[in-house]
Amino acid sequence: MAADSSPRSAVDDAFYRDADSFFPAQQGVALTYDDVTLATQYSEILPRDANLETILAERLHLQIPIISADMDTVTESRMAIAMALNGGLGLIHYNMPERQQLSEVTRVKYHVHGLIQEPIKVSPDQFIGDVLALIEERHFSFSTFPIVDEKERLLGLLPGHVVRPRYSTRKVSEAMMPRASVHTINERELQPDPIGRADKFFNEHVGIHKLLVVDDEDRLRGLFTLSDIERITQEKAAPLKPGRDSQFRLVCGAAVSATRNSTGELDQARILRHVGALVERGVDVIAISTAHAFSKGVGETVRLIRDGYPELPIIAGNVTSASAVEYLASCGANAIKVGQGPGSICTTRMVAGVGIPQLTALYVCGKAAQAAGVCIIADGGISKSGDIVKALTLSHAVICGGLLAGCPEAPGQIMEINGKLYKQYRGMGSPAAMKAGSAARYGHSKDTTRKVAAEGVEALKEVSASLDSVMTQLVGGLQSGMGYLGAPHLRDLRERARFARITPAGQRESGPHDIVEVKTGASNN
Ligand code: XMP
Repeated sequence: MAADSSPRSAVDDAFYRDADSFFPAQQGVALTYDDVTLATQYSEILPRDANLETILAERLHLQIPIISADMDTVTESRMAIAMALNGGLGLIHYNMPERQQLSEVTRVKYHVHGLIQEPIKVSPDQFIGDVLALIEERHFSFSTFPIVDEKERLLGLLPGHVVRPRYSTRKVSEAMMPRASVHTINERELQPDPIGRADKFFNEHVGIHKLLVVDDEDRLRGLFTLSDIERITQEKAAPLKPGRDSQFRLVCGAAVSATRNSTGELDQARILRHVGALVERGVDVIAISTAHAFSKGVGETVRLIRDGYPELPIIAGNVTSASAVEYLASCGANAIKVGQGPGSICTTRMVAGVGIPQLTALYVCGKAAQAAGVCIIADGGISKSGDIVKALTLSHAVICGGLLAGCPEAPGQIMEINGKLYKQYRGMGSPAAMKAGSAARYGHSKDTTRKVAAEGVEALKEVSASLDSVMTQLVGGLQSGMGYLGAPHLRDLRERARFARITPAGQRESGPHDIVEVKTGASNN
């Protein structure tokens, strides 16, 4: 990195200290976000130019360093889609049957991507009624289908306007558009820019909405739709780029637990089968989520998955010590979640008396992560964008639960209480969530006849704006912070952060005070 030539005074250096002199000077005291503030620095960048890209593993690059928590009131496919469209990542929780988690991942991976590589096809001998039943059973939102023979060769296209109950008893072959009238392109003509090529085709063919891709034998190899291509080309102009994989599908993560069998041993076969199925669906990262990851079971699970899938990005957590980071890194984790007890719905610190306030935990874990060549992710306790800025001075990404749980994209019904709208938000260690399946995360059995100590509460969040608006606020705040610190990239934020401790009076001064507030500025929580 080039030497920092910012104008700088030694007085500042004495009072506003970099992480390596600030945190060791507080040894024995654990600090969190509101205990510190960041000093502003000479800047040559505008906030909007701050680049938020972060790399969590060789195969896991995010446009923005924000991840939605793998909690059953935060991330299922709808949230994961919205997170990926905003450039972040959603981790689909595991408090559901494995089969359902697989379909949640599939939904994300198949949400608007450039080339649909495995389009749903029908055969000429089927009845339109069969096609209608298929649409209903699989909840398809489209009704146009390519028609192929048993060797996958293209025979024609069944247009949506004939897929109606009126024609139920007609065969597909009677209603289809014949092969000669279907617009196709050979897969060899798509490179190097499949989306650009499809975009050009739709520009040149007014009124055509589908372009089928075939190989030299006229076998169906894919499908482009005009609406997908339009959304993607619009995305290219947007300031926040969606997170996409090499096949242009949205990125998606999924959480797994260190599952044990009836004799209490790690169920290796089941874990590998589950991860294998997730990988087959295109999952981009696996998160092994437990409350205490500095444990033999979690280490062995990481090792098992690493051995089975050498290239797969693995997040593991949660921990709060340097030795735990070293351990998980040596087992093969790429990114390690830091956070024990900071979450807005957590009671771990009260119930078990353990856990370390976030900033100190991040500093300690970060030192080990740097030495081991892995990343750390700040998980829990983020209640405003300023916390994200502070967290990212010591980590590579943040995980948010409560900040996103009120969004319409989070799972769960909206309820009205005394004229206000709320959504449920519960800890994965709350009695209800553990009963629904997350007990393993807290080292307990799902068997509710046994007494277990809950480590989370069931709560409500006021319904917030859409995820897009919440992200706009969070990203805007993060970019402001980077502007104040003169940090064009996140690595510069880590480099340039200078900390000062604040007192309760300083905290009071940090929020609006001595006024009658008529309109809250905090639209994100
Ligand atoms: P926030 O503060 O974003 O925290 O709402 C979300 C994170 O909290 C963790 N989590 C829990 N921790 N008991 C705990 O001690 C729980 O029941 C619980 N549920 C979630 C988790 O790391 C999540 O990302």
